[in-house]
Amino acid sequence: MRRSIVRGVGGYLPSNCVTNADIAKSLDTTDEWIVERTGMKQRHVLADGQNTSDMAAEAAKIALANAGIDAASIDLIVVATVTPDNPFPATAARVQAKIGATNAFAFDVNAVCSGFIYALSVADQYLKTGMAKRALVIGADAMSKILDWNDRSTAVLFGDGAGALVLEGVDESHADYNRGIHSAHLFSDGGCYDLLYVDTTPACAKQPGHVRMQGREIFKFAIKLIGEAVETVLKSNNMTVNDIDWFVPHQANLRIIEGISVHFKIPMEKMVVTVDKHSNTSAATIPLALWEAARDGRIQKGQKVVLEAMGGGLTWASALVKW
Ligand code: ACO
Repeated sequence: MRRSIVRGVGGYLPSNCVTNADIAKSLDTTDEWIVERTGMKQRHVLADGQNTSDMAAEAAKIALANAGIDAASIDLIVVATVTPDNPFPATAARVQAKIGATNAFAFDVNAVCSGFIYALSVADQYLKTGMAKRALVIGADAMSKILDWNDRSTAVLFGDGAGALVLEGVDESHADYNRGIHSAHLFSDGGCYDLLYVDTTPACAKQPGHVRMQGREIFKFAIKLIGEAVETVLKSNNMTVNDIDWFVPHQANLRIIEGISVHFKIPMEKMVVTVDKHSNTSAATIPLALWEAARDGRIQKGQKVVLEAMGGGLTWASALVKW
């Protein structure tokens, strides 16, 4: 069996940065409420005319440059998104054209905030079996396009962004074989659909629809389900918290991250936190956090990194990656 190793990482955030105070100018909210309940201080928002594929393509180009790999040698592109440019074609196909990955096949995955780990796991199957050799896995979302900007209970929580990994399948003879994706664990419960959803689609109502969320219920599920996902990934790899160098959680709320840290006795210094700067960018939070922590030298080659997420669906997931 081959293994999928990380060759490069990239990210992109739109230049327009919107602070809590900016939002409070048009919505009945305050910087204090948002910081106290979520830890969020700002988020990046796309300019008119920009789309998810624009962000995804920029993140992909940075990841390819980081890997020192040409776009033409990529044979698979998977984009995790809930905000595709169009219902079809897939955003991944648009990215393929934008970066010139002429030899790739490309498709999207929708698992909301768990989408990046789902996409990683999908790409991993192709690479492990040798059906693909080099893959781009991208998490990208333009949440600003599906927010109800009059609903203070959701509008303050999200941001736009994209992050990407370049993966390569290697066999046992390769020097880096011990690195890469060691396991991924995916879970869904469609019965909890109404806790977090978008209320219509262009296909049924000729308009994009808005995010609706029962925040308090989602919060409780997040602590429980992310806890289960973390337990599963540690157990499957016969590891404890002490064996892990970095935890890279989905960034939905600082209080959820702190709750997991307390429950598992994970020092906050081992948690990569970006929620204060990016807010919740849905499928993009984890690759953006990886990009940031790899860029600033925290995550080093060979270190063990646990990814974990929970989102609409409900979906939840975890993975162990040796960087
Ligand atoms: N500013 C000021 N007041 C607000 C705001 C706001 N932006 N939003 C809500 N309030 C008010 C409410 O109206 C309510 O007022 P009331 O007591 O007078 O009725 C009060 O604040 C408390 O509201 P709650 O919703 O109970 O606040 P809570 O402490 O639960 O925090 C939050 C809300 C931040 C949404 C939290 O529940 C949360 O983070 N939930 C989880 C979100 C999450 O994990 N999402 C992940 C998945 S996202 C995805 O998959 C796309």
